[in-house]
Amino acid sequence: MQPLADPVDLILLREAALLRSDGPVVVVDDQDGALARGLVSELGVAEVRVSCDALSEERAVRQSTADMAQVRVLPPGPELWQDVRRVLLRLPKGLAALDETAEGVARWADPTVELLAGGRVKHMSRSMNDVLGRHFGSVRASLGAQKSRVLIATGTAPAATSPYPVCAADADLGLTVCAHGAAFAGPAVDLGTRYLLSFGDTFARTARQVVDLGCGTGLLAVAAARTLPEARVLAVDESRAAALSAAATAEANGVADRVEVRRTNLMEGVPDRSVDLVLCNPPFHRGNARDSAVAFEMFADAARALAPGGELWAVYNSHLPYLRALRRLVGTTDVMGQNTAFTVTRSIRTV
Ligand SMILES: C[S@@+](CC[C@H](N)C(=O)[O-])C[C@H]1O[C@@H](n2cnc3c(N)ncnc32)[C@H](O)[C@@H]1O
Repeated sequence: MQPLADPVDLILLREAALLRSDGPVVVVDDQDGALARGLVSELGVAEVRVSCDALSEERAVRQSTADMAQVRVLPPGPELWQDVRRVLLRLPKGLAALDETAEGVARWADPTVELLAGGRVKHMSRSMNDVLGRHFGSVRASLGAQKSRVLIATGTAPAATSPYPVCAADADLGLTVCAHGAAFAGPAVDLGTRYLLSFGDTFARTARQVVDLGCGTGLLAVAAARTLPEARVLAVDESRAAALSAAATAEANGVADRVEVRRTNLMEGVPDRSVDLVLCNPPFHRGNARDSAVAFEMFADAARALAPGGELWAVYNSHLPYLRALRRLVGTTDVMGQNTAFTVTRSIRTV
């Protein structure tokens, strides 16, 4: 069995052991299956249902719990929540993500449900209590351990309807952005994304197959579908919240017939040398930590999928060392624009 090294997992399991209720337990955003395994092997839970926003985490959970018939991985929905009176959640980075999850728990789980939300103290704020307090009558904090703590929410106060996805019009872009809680930047437009879109008239006009890689709310995909009316656009993201948001954004802007959305790792399933244009605002965080590894994976996968002569347009914080990586991984790369914060590049696939 894997050791339970993560302090947030440890304190969540400690608090779960103190709960009085029984029945199935739902784990939201288990990172790697350690929580699900601990619930079964240490607490003797007979049924654990796991739901993950990120496909990479979902795959890690499936792999690490493959030998446990007690564990099932499910998408959010009635099957996940039915008769659930215990929920374990690793606190997400964003308040909207917490809000949407808490809202769903309060609405779909058993009214006696106890929600345990754990995190590192340095990443927790009073606002998290307030968000939980919108959906539960009581929110208290556990004792801390190893610089981690659990918020315990009870007494559901379910809303009649969910506000998600939240949609907002952006007057400058003339687009409506729709966002589920965990989607990057919510229903606002990230400044880097806005800067990349200011080069929209320069994107290859002949492009027919376009990919928005790491689509978030799908703004780049939808803008491309509008600028390039003959193009078919694929929006991909490993986050379920992002994929659902991008589909809603495409629908809200009347281009759902030309924007296909997939929840995938990178451009999995996209044939080699088949794409004319890739648009990408890559992540430079993994959770709360800075990490460029995924950005480099995205550039390499764009290079694989681009047809000869195809273009990758990327935007990134100017201090990041991406120019060299783009030249090495993709091909000839020019800086098309640079402002105080962001750099926009165009890389052309030459072989
Ligand atoms: C900086 S955000 C950009 C979102 C959107 N394109 C925009 O400009 O607003 C990066 C996105 O990449 C997604 N992402 C991270 N790792 C990924 C992966 N391995 N495969 C696909 N998407 C990924 C994240 O979920 C996030 O939505």
